[in-house]
Amino acid sequence: MNLHQLICLCAYFLTYSYKVKAVSRKDYGARIIGGHIAFAGQFPFAAAVHVQTADSKFFCGGALTGNDWVITAGHCVYNAVLFTIQLGSNHLESDDPNRMTVATSTYILHPDFNPEAIENDIGLIKFRRPIDYNIYLNPVFPMGFSLVDDAPVYVLGWGQISDSDPELSNELRYLFIRTISNAECRTIYGDQITDTMVCVVGNYNEGTCVGDNGSPLVASNGKYYALVGVASFVSANGCESTDPSGYTRTFPYLEWIQNNTREEQKLYE
Ligand SMILES: *[C@@H]1O[C@H](CO)[C@@H](O)[C@H](O)[C@H]1NC(C)=O
Repeated sequence: MNLHQLICLCAYFLTYSYKVKAVSRKDYGARIIGGHIAFAGQFPFAAAVHVQTADSKFFCGGALTGNDWVITAGHCVYNAVLFTIQLGSNHLESDDPNRMTVATSTYILHPDFNPEAIENDIGLIKFRRPIDYNIYLNPVFPMGFSLVDDAPVYVLGWGQISDSDPELSNELRYLFIRTISNAECRTIYGDQITDTMVCVVGNYNEGTCVGDNGSPLVASNGKYYALVGVASFVSANGCESTDPSGYTRTFPYLEWIQNNTREEQKLYE
C-alpha cells in the first residue's frame, strides 16, 4: 500500500506567521487550490480567526454557529491565548463596511483532541457579546444526520492558493467538490483515517491548503447550507498533490456541540 503521511494543517504554523499586509495577488483568479472567489453574502457564516498562542500567531477559518459561537478545528484553539475574529466580509483586508471584529471570551477544545494523531480535531470559540445577524452575517448549523459518501460539498477558506505562495488569500475562496468514502481515503493514508474524519477530493489538484484549517465544509439543499465538517489536515506531499484533504466530521460531535453551545441550535433534517 502506498501510504502517505497526513499532517495537521497547523504543523506549518510553527514556522509560518500571519502577514495579511503581504497578501499576494499573483495567483488572482485561482483557488483555495483550484477555487472561485465567493461573492458578498454567499457564505455569511465564514469567520476569519486570528489565533495567538504564547509563542506563535497563525490564521484559521471557522464558521459562525449561533450568535456568540464560532466552530473551528481543535488545533486552532489548542494552547491559544487570544483570538481576533472577523465576520461579515469576504475580504481579510479592505474597507468593507460590513466587516466586524468580535472580541472573544473563551474557547472549548474537544477533551479527546489528540494533536499527534489529529483526532477529535474540533473546537468552539465564544464571543464576549452576542452579535446581530444580517445578510452578510448569518450562522450555519451542523447537519442533523450523517454525511453520505460521494456527497457534493463546498469547501471554503482564505488559505494559501498554491504550495509555492505562503500568503493567505485576501478574498474568501470556495470549491464545489465531493467527499470520498473513508475506505477510499484509507487506501491513501491507511488507518490514520478514523470514522470521525471525512476526506474530500477535487478534480486534479483542487483542495484545501494552509490557512484553510478550521474552515467549514458545508452541504447545500439549494436553499440552506448545513455544516458537515471543519478542515483538519492535508497531505504532507503538499496541498497541490492529488491526495485528499481531511475534515473532522461534525455529526459525531453533534451532542458535544449542542451541550457546549447550549443554544436552541436549528438542525437541518
Ligand atoms: C450532553 O449532556 C447530557 C446531559 O447533561 C449528557 O448526558 C451527555 O453525556 C452529554 N454528551 C456529550 C457528548 O457531552
